[in-house]
Amino acid sequence: SLATTFLGVNFANPFMNAAGVMCQTENELTSLAQSSSGSLITKSCTSAFREGNPEPRYSKAPLGSINSMGLPNLGFDFYFNYAKNTFPSVNVSNKPIFFSISGLSLEESTSMAQSLCPLATEGQVILELNLSCPNVPGKPQIGYDMEDMDRYLNAVSSVYSMPFGVKMPPYFDFAHFDSAAAVLNKYDKVAFVTCINSVGNGLVIDIDSEQTLIRPKAGFGGIGGSYVLPTALANVNAFYTRCPGKKIIGCGGVTSGSEAFMHILAGASLVQIGTQLQEEGVGVFDRILSELRTLMEKKGYTTLSDFHGKLKTL
Ligand code: DHB
Repeated sequence: SLATTFLGVNFANPFMNAAGVMCQTENELTSLAQSSSGSLITKSCTSAFREGNPEPRYSKAPLGSINSMGLPNLGFDFYFNYAKNTFPSVNVSNKPIFFSISGLSLEESTSMAQSLCPLATEGQVILELNLSCPNVPGKPQIGYDMEDMDRYLNAVSSVYSMPFGVKMPPYFDFAHFDSAAAVLNKYDKVAFVTCINSVGNGLVIDIDSEQTLIRPKAGFGGIGGSYVLPTALANVNAFYTRCPGKKIIGCGGVTSGSEAFMHILAGASLVQIGTQLQEEGVGVFDRILSELRTLMEKKGYTTLSDFHGKLKTL
């Protein structure tokens, strides 16, 4: 069985969308809700509706994707009402919904967290606080400024009485793994850590047209897909070993059951799918579920706990 529990909640399987992918509109969320994913998460929201950056702002790339969406979203109230009214509801299978917030200031994130708290207290949503949006011009990623991250977590913790999670950017240095984990470990309410958001501000070039693939930010954007798998696995495992009291959600480079297995082996309790979901549609969940089951059978494993976090080193 691929069933698992996470923060005391039961999940039919560990798979969900990565925040941002197929979760902006009601129709997209409904299609995720009706898919075979174990859970889903809403598009990172701001208090007010945002149009986002000019198109094209997402592109498939040879080994993954590049995006600079600019936080297009329908505004906090839309996602709040969707979670409250449409979920958990009758005819969609009962599965947990995560709620991503990404304010453009500490005050905005704190205010949304405060408004969300009653719904979380009712057990209707789980908050994933986004500390890693790389695509809003002039706004540095919170997760790359340890003092800023500490201020956000202090403020959100003070208004939010339930356990919540954080969406982290990738780090590339042991000093940064250590300092980021030390900040997260100050906050007992930070119950899970989602690693990783896109590798920020890459540049993909089309050789025939000699052009960038996306319009915003002169073609710079967040990189996802197979390009980022080793970085994602490193970050999952780095935070798994440094944050013993917290759960890890793995995200980055999952295209088949094999990469999902690697994320879980490295310490992920749940696994998010971004680029591959965008490219393949919700059928990706059926395919990867079946591939993971086959791989587990081959290895003689019957549950996720048989290999979760059991990565061997040389
Ligand atoms: C966007 C991209 C991100 O990686 C993120 O975490 C939040 C928002 C965006 O461009 O919309």
